[in-house]
Amino acid sequence: MIVVTGATGNVGRALVHQLTAADTPVRALTRDPARAHLPPAADTTRLVVTPEPADMTVQFKGARQLFLHASVTGDHTTAFLAAARAAGVEHVVVLSSIAVEDDPAHDTFIHTWHRTLEQDVRDSGLDWTFLRPGVFATNALQWAWQIKQGDTVRGPYADGVSTPIHEGDIAAVARHALTERHSATAHALTGPAPITTAQQIAAIGDAVGRSLTYQEITPDEVAPEMFPIIPADMVPAFVAALAHTVEHEPPLTTTVEDVTGTPARTFAEWARDHADDFRA
Ligand SMILES: NC(=O)c1ccc[n+]([C@@H]2O[C@H](COP(=O)([O-])OP(=O)(O)OC[C@H]3O[C@@H](n4cnc5c(N)ncnc54)[C@H](OP(=O)(O)O)[C@@H]3O)[C@@H](O)[C@H]2O)c1
Repeated sequence: MIVVTGATGNVGRALVHQLTAADTPVRALTRDPARAHLPPAADTTRLVVTPEPADMTVQFKGARQLFLHASVTGDHTTAFLAAARAAGVEHVVVLSSIAVEDDPAHDTFIHTWHRTLEQDVRDSGLDWTFLRPGVFATNALQWAWQIKQGDTVRGPYADGVSTPIHEGDIAAVARHALTERHSATAHALTGPAPITTAQQIAAIGDAVGRSLTYQEITPDEVAPEMFPIIPADMVPAFVAALAHTVEHEPPLTTTVEDVTGTPARTFAEWARDHADDFRA
């Protein structure tokens, strides 16, 4: 049995689908099982997070492995991992971030959050695999509201470059890491190729059958509501990170293909998979 946290999210949902499709027993944890809409073959169970490990062991009953999403444990990661270990979990695959590989001199909240999570896992006594993805292709969903309204998307840094990764590819690496037990291993994960922001918008246009244009605005013109999937207080850091991508080559790895045997999916494939998310 594998316990999956963040099971209704981009990566967790894809992982639950892949595990159940392979007939692997999976328990999907969520704060609201009634709204989870996960495959019937998954044991969808309410997530319990408290300061007391004894309160949390029940959700790990019969499990040997855990997929851990950084958001779900709040201030109680150590207790959560202790509960997992007490219940018989041996190995945890962590959804971390490629940011932990950056120079610590430029740390932000994102860096510190994932570095702390990885250290908590190392300290837990559990065997571990760290998945360190770069930019998710799903970040492009931030433009959906503009694309539903018209053919022009306004935003900063048209020439910003990233190597977006399909959530299904992160999940596929997670599935291999779990089923093959990639012990004490860190995987840096990216999509297969660099792409600019303007090219992403054009690819989404191709997917929905429309000609879309990216209209660059100055950083001063950026409003938080332009990025509805990012907390408003994190928008300035996000825009600064976008500025960095104009001048600096993004990381590019072949880990998805190395681990799964299948090339990482392109942004164009992601856009076709998500075309309906951009339709009114
Ligand atoms: N976006 C990027 O470019 C990027 C890049 C590198 C790393 N990452 C990391 O990847 C993770 C995001 O993965 P994702 O997109 O798959 O996640 P997601 O879709 O944003 O969320 C996953 C699930 O986590 C649960 N959740 C969220 N906040 C919670 C909270 N405060 N307490 C308990 N449960 C909570 C929710 O499930 P329920 O409502 O069902 O409980 C949610 O559906 C983050 O740690 C992020 O830092 C992201």
